[in-house]
Amino acid sequence: MLDKIKLFAPATVANVSCGFDVLGFCLDTVGDEMVVHKTQEKGIRITKIEGSELPLEVEKNVAGVSALAMYNALQPDCGFEIEIYKKIKPGSGIGSSSASAAGSVFGINALLGYPLNKSELTKYAIKGEALASQCEHADNIAPTIFGGFTLVRSVAPVDILQLPTPEELYATIIHPQIEIKTSEARAILPKTVALDGAITQWSNVGSLVHALHTSDYDLLNKALKDVIVEPHRKQLIPHFDAVRTAALSAGALGCGISGSGPSIFMLSKGKSTAENVEKAIADCYQDTSIPFNTFVSKINTQGIKVI
Ligand code: HSE
Repeated sequence: MLDKIKLFAPATVANVSCGFDVLGFCLDTVGDEMVVHKTQEKGIRITKIEGSELPLEVEKNVAGVSALAMYNALQPDCGFEIEIYKKIKPGSGIGSSSASAAGSVFGINALLGYPLNKSELTKYAIKGEALASQCEHADNIAPTIFGGFTLVRSVAPVDILQLPTPEELYATIIHPQIEIKTSEARAILPKTVALDGAITQWSNVGSLVHALHTSDYDLLNKALKDVIVEPHRKQLIPHFDAVRTAALSAGALGCGISGSGPSIFMLSKGKSTAENVEKAIADCYQDTSIPFNTFVSKINTQGIKVI
């Protein structure tokens, strides 16, 4: 059996506008790399982190917390060392903590001969994610582990639905280089919602799921709207409305906050439209004083993988 594995843990977009805490999809151009080693010495150790200033202490690192939760449950007769090569900036809104939390459990599972299925891996990865966002949600973890679009029907017990990905769908991402902590972006949200807003929101979630099943791009365009969370959070992201106007004018089907931000995502039909959208939003941000980067990605239907 292998005693070392290298893996790619992809970035993800959570919420997908109307699906706060339940919908997500997986990107394929950006992701962390991790190496997990099996050791004779028992326990979990994080031996190296490159690309970001994150703690090596297992209990303070999302990858360590998820690994430890799985390790304590399985009690294998060996230990594991984890190396993390961060390519996803923490606090960027494209699932940085989820990639690390999922990566460690995926690597350990592979080295143990795959005793756990994807839902069980999700259960332990959520424990790491919770360290970053102060609550258990799986809308980044699920697309990292399952790939494609996912819907979290329940976190306890874990119940993830895999949704189809329309063939011609591409994502465009802009990452304004400011940091928004998920815990803080959650703290500003109201605890209750008005019934009329809730009706609009669940009508959009249902429509979005139907649009994915039927590759109905016009319906996607109508459904990619968030009347509950975005109105509160967009104030944290400079020039959000200008980006959305530019993106929709360039042909995007929809535009919203990626997870808790500051990244903003757009979905488009076809790669060339996604690239036109990228150019339009870059032009829009060029005139601001905020550094940013953009990229276009096909939807990654495989998710986390061995490399
Ligand atoms: N659903 C979570 C939130 C995702 O929006 O707070 C965090 O990335």
